[in-house]
Amino acid sequence: LIKKEKQLPLSGKNVLITAGGTKERIDPVRYLTNDSSGKMGYAMAMAARDLGANVTLISATQHQSEPFGIAIHYVESAEEMKNMVLSKYDTTDMAIMAAAVADYRPIQQADKKMKKTGHDLQLELAQTTDILKLLGQTKKQQYLIGFAAETNDLLTYGQQKLINKQADMIVANDVSKANAGFHSDTNEVTVLMPKETPIQLPNASKYEIAKEVLIIAASKI
Ligand code: CTP
Ligand code: CA
Repeated sequence: LIKKEKQLPLSGKNVLITAGGTKERIDPVRYLTNDSSGKMGYAMAMAARDLGANVTLISATQHQSEPFGIAIHYVESAEEMKNMVLSKYDTTDMAIMAAAVADYRPIQQADKKMKKTGHDLQLELAQTTDILKLLGQTKKQQYLIGFAAETNDLLTYGQQKLINKQADMIVANDVSKANAGFHSDTNEVTVLMPKETPIQLPNASKYEIAKEVLIIAASKI
């Protein structure tokens, strides 16, 4: 008996997802990073898998357990993340940039542990590449989803990111809210798409949010 496989919303689609906060090295034992836990990105990856996609996860965190049935590549810095993302982009149908990518990195990286000097130290920082923006500029078939974590003026900043980065969707969340944002297991987001009324999703688990977002996105590709 041949059982016909049920068609899922992302069946046969290659979905590329970034997760976690990048680390920008100062020296071999020190770095700059941010509060991202990776939970939202991992939830996106598991939800995409469960909706039928072939999922590639580019992770900047070691603190999440490896989900079954997902190809994971670990990276540390924004630069490494950019290179790994670019190496997978051509064959991607949907790219989801859930990582909190550092906006700046130390210009100098000491190859030995730095010693204290007895006086103050200034760190010089260089801007990192905006990966999502770069993907937006070079996009072909790819449906491009970005995130915007804001503490204020969520919709204004979210809409600006949608336009500046040429994304197809921005998932905006107010990280100052209780039960939402960085280390929370739940989230509350607003989905922004060009020329469409924002869709506000009620507070739910990050996995449930991820599924709802992906079902909306799948209906657009
Ligand atoms: N992003 C990226 N590369 C960067 C910075 C951000 O790909 N160097 C992506 C994030 O993964 C996210 C989106 O851009 O999907 C928005 O990130 P966010 O930090 O909210 O926006 P920025 O453009 O960096 O602006 P700001 O931090 O000033 O709000
Ligand atoms: Ca940023």
